[in-house]
Amino acid sequence: MRSTATTILGAGAALALLLTACEGEGAGGGGGGGDADAAPEDMTVGVAMPTQTYERWLQDGGNIEEGLEDLGYTVDLQYADDDIPTQSQQIDQMITQEVDALIVASIDGSALTSQLDAAAAAGIPVIAYDRLLTNSEDVDFYVTFDNYEVGVNQARSLLYGLGILDENFDEADDAPEGPLNIELFAGSLDDSNSHHFWQGAIDTLEPYLEDGTLEIPSGQDTIQQAATQRWEQETAQERMENLLTTHYSGDTELDGVLTPADPLSRGIITALRNDGQGPTIEEGMPIVTGQDAEIASISLIEQGIQHSTIFKDTRLLAEEAVRAAEAYLQGEEPEPNDTETYDNGEIVVPSYLLDVEMVLQDNYEEILVDSGYYTEEQVESGQL
Ligand code: BGC
Repeated sequence: MRSTATTILGAGAALALLLTACEGEGAGGGGGGGDADAAPEDMTVGVAMPTQTYERWLQDGGNIEEGLEDLGYTVDLQYADDDIPTQSQQIDQMITQEVDALIVASIDGSALTSQLDAAAAAGIPVIAYDRLLTNSEDVDFYVTFDNYEVGVNQARSLLYGLGILDENFDEADDAPEGPLNIELFAGSLDDSNSHHFWQGAIDTLEPYLEDGTLEIPSGQDTIQQAATQRWEQETAQERMENLLTTHYSGDTELDGVLTPADPLSRGIITALRNDGQGPTIEEGMPIVTGQDAEIASISLIEQGIQHSTIFKDTRLLAEEAVRAAEAYLQGEEPEPNDTETYDNGEIVVPSYLLDVEMVLQDNYEEILVDSGYYTEEQVESGQL
């Protein structure tokens, strides 16, 4: 039988717990998640990443882990092989193990609502990393890049490569009248970023599609038609092969391809090469864009095969994620620089957006080599 003393103590402890839980209200609650008095080494951050097949997520995961460990925190870093149930389970487990904060780069941004619910109930703050977590009010903060600008820059680089814009991205004096033929590729529809990239690109290309400077011979001009499920390289390569067979078998020439990520660009370039185009832009390879400044693509840009990519400094993104996590762990709030753009269907998630840069053959050295992101040897070999 429990004594009265224990019962009173029990009630007191329960009250104390309740108070702590309220103070540390996490996801959606707007409060910090950590116990400000706990030492960093007693706190763990769960970091959920989508896949190891894209170079960037390996760097993101590694950089976040290093940044948090440098501050003394313990890190539980998991990759989910682009499999939604695996990622759900990994996050469930992190919550069961009572991590103190979560940083999540989702596979499908809308598939984690029950995990986000559980995190909120446990007072664990959730930071969406690079990709927005949608359909839930239980997302505390979002660190990402200016994703609309990514699309704008991809389209601008395409227009520049086609000679429609000059090197200052103004209308070129000697712009071709066209029509020039392009095809459009988009990312995975369950990734909110894909829609921002697409919108930025389409808004930029639209005037030239409307006045006939650009044409899309396949007629596939919606994001649904252009999408690449799970951002898979083979899927993009196959779609390019089909487009070539179906729409470019006669005299129709392809001039450019809007491509939202480097691995897709390389799949598309392979399809174009197998079709006898190129090998270099000078020798007839269409203008192909990209994103992520992956080393293999920088090497192709250096060789004049891929036209452009978008550099998003994932070192800085990881730093922002670490800064946000640390704020919560210390019982504070991270500072957003955007509180309007990222409506996740339930709430507008306070966000921290970073700038992006267009990379071309004549500036990759300045942006990527001089800054120490890559060495010249890595660019030469196309490997890290
Ligand atoms: C990221 C891109 C990446 C793509 C595929 C997007 O959410 O923002 O940087 O290329 O996912 O992994």
